[in-house]
Amino acid sequence: MYAYNRGVLKDIEYAGYRIPAGWLVTISPMLTHRLPELYTDPDRFDPDRFAPPREEDKKHPLALMGFGHGSHRCLGMEFAQMEMKIVLSTLLRHCDWTVKPDYSAIAPNFAVELRSASDSLRTVQQKMQEYIDNGVRLGWLINPQNQQVEIYRPGQEVEVLRSPTSLSGEDVLAGFVLDLAQILS
Ligand code: HEM
Repeated sequence: MYAYNRGVLKDIEYAGYRIPAGWLVTISPMLTHRLPELYTDPDRFDPDRFAPPREEDKKHPLALMGFGHGSHRCLGMEFAQMEMKIVLSTLLRHCDWTVKPDYSAIAPNFAVELRSASDSLRTVQQKMQEYIDNGVRLGWLINPQNQQVEIYRPGQEVEVLRSPTSLSGEDVLAGFVLDLAQILS
């Protein structure tokens, strides 16, 4: 699950940010499932991370949320899990499995980080670099504390924009422009 959304019904304050009613908040399990604070070497194929004694998915109530969470959690979760076991057991019985040595991690084309008041700048900068090293083609690190945006692209120096009013999605998100008026002010 790449992402799902929630409409904001009333103004809320989170991590030092005011999120007004009417906004849309996007939750991305694809990113949160790769948080190094929760998962050791998150991009490594390591199913044992979920087994005792490590149980990294139990470090936080929302550490593993591929089926969502709360009142709108996936209604088909049990069915889907049963289906996956049936398909997997059928494939394991009928096919021989190997992992290709040149297996590479899957990465989205674009990643954005909004630095919160509690985020260390160095940590989020390292995270952005890691996204790029894993194949992300365009990364924005929006830093309201310093009123600047760092733009990450593969094979290029990080570009730093001071107090930009908008950001272009370039050829990666062709036509997309993010208005920063309410984020950097
Ligand atoms: C691996 C397979 C599946 C995954 C990863 C998955 C994931 C999700 C997620 C993340 C949500 C929550 C979306 C949100 O909160 O906005 C959701 C909702 C839902 N899913 Fe699934 N799903 C899967 C399979 C299924 C299946 C097989 C069914 C039906 C047979 C199903 C029926 C639903 C329904 C009806 C909802 C809406 C629940 C609500 O809004 O109250 N899902 N699913």
